[in-house]
Amino acid sequence: MEKTFLLSFLFLLFHLAPAKADLGVGIGIGIGIGIGNGGGGGGGANNSPGPSGPSVSKMDMAYKSLQAWKSAITDDPLKILDNWTGSNVCFYNGVFCSNSFVAGIDLNHANLQGTLVKDLSLLTDLSLLHLNSNRFTGTIPDTFKDLSSLKELDLSNNQFSGEFPTVVLNIPNLIYLDLRFNSFSGTLPDELFRKNLDAILLNNNQFQGQIPQNLASSSASVINLANNKFTGTIPISSLGLVGTYNSKLKEILFLNNQLTGCIPQGVGLFRDVQVLDVSFNSLVGHLPGTLSCLEDIEVLNLAHNQLSGELSDVVCSLKSLVNLTVAYNFFNGLSQECSRLLIRNVGFDFSDNCIPGRDMQRPKPECSVIPGGSLSCLRIPIPKPLDCASLAIASSSP
Ligand SMILES: *[C@@H]1O[C@H](CO)[C@@H](O)[C@H](O)[C@H]1NC(C)=O
Ligand SMILES: *[C@@H]1O[C@H](CO)[C@@H](O)[C@H](O)[C@H]1NC(C)=O
Repeated sequence: MEKTFLLSFLFLLFHLAPAKADLGVGIGIGIGIGIGNGGGGGGGANNSPGPSGPSVSKMDMAYKSLQAWKSAITDDPLKILDNWTGSNVCFYNGVFCSNSFVAGIDLNHANLQGTLVKDLSLLTDLSLLHLNSNRFTGTIPDTFKDLSSLKELDLSNNQFSGEFPTVVLNIPNLIYLDLRFNSFSGTLPDELFRKNLDAILLNNNQFQGQIPQNLASSSASVINLANNKFTGTIPISSLGLVGTYNSKLKEILFLNNQLTGCIPQGVGLFRDVQVLDVSFNSLVGHLPGTLSCLEDIEVLNLAHNQLSGELSDVVCSLKSLVNLTVAYNFFNGLSQECSRLLIRNVGFDFSDNCIPGRDMQRPKPECSVIPGGSLSCLRIPIPKPLDCASLAIASSSP
């Protein structure tokens, strides 16, 4: 018996572990609002003075709102909205009430086709709107700014399009913004990184242009800009350090855009970052010494760029590293610490570089012309290169 138990325990452990390590997909952010399935039961009417009591009229508004939305749904193959009838909206599939107010709508994976409607803004107690994996098109109605309780907006994996939906910046209490896997295009507004958001998930859209210069001042712990068409440099200026220190950022993903230039010195500002991925861009030059400031970094992916110079202790001495990927660059040497990574238990892929005497490197002719090879990336006229201490001083100044 014990043996069977142990085996199934190990089986579970084995199968759960890879999922846990899959940091790139974004983190879950739990917001305890304690919603229960149909918890309200319409009891609110008992305590109100009459049919015009506050919760009754809120329920009327919710009914009006959800029926308007239902009529904008053009296909519902799973028949999820079939039971969106009658005045007690708390019993509708996917609708969650708290104190007989609509507090959440969760229609993830419902495969609904349709649009969002302006009437949804009547749900002023809504704190959660999760619509991932449906077929919604169009954009987000401007009335969403009136959703004053909304904290989590997940519209990922739909067919929304148009410019960045600036209305989300006016949703006063929003903290989780997930627009991944849609067809949004155009540039990002600066206000996005000024808003008090904890998660900004914009990957797999068609966003383009420069990433706003104030990225580093964001309060978010997760920023995912992967798989878009951003151009220009990584906007973490080491000049504008004052007051921009982001103490919360844990995960930032730039992978698969069209970013150029060097990895900026300012990257060392992300002192708490655990995952940094700049792979599949066109970055050039040597690595900045400030990478050594990233003491908590676990996953660092620099692959598929045109980076060069020696891969140095600056990176390889980082003590929290579990996975370092630098494949497909032009690095031409490994420091002692880097060679030691191979025997430490760290995933380390340095294939397809120009490292002498190592297997699986680029053919010699490719290594004779190194793109931006002479760039030391210390282009900023400062008396001495920034180190972690000077970053800390600059960022703690008022
Ligand atoms: C709709 O379906 C759900 C789940 O099957 C059920 O709990 C709920 O009571 C139904 N609502 C109505 C109004 O029939
Ligand atoms: C390391 O990261 C790369 C890219 O992020 C990924 O493809 C690879 O599977 C990871 N390796 C390990 C051992 O986790």
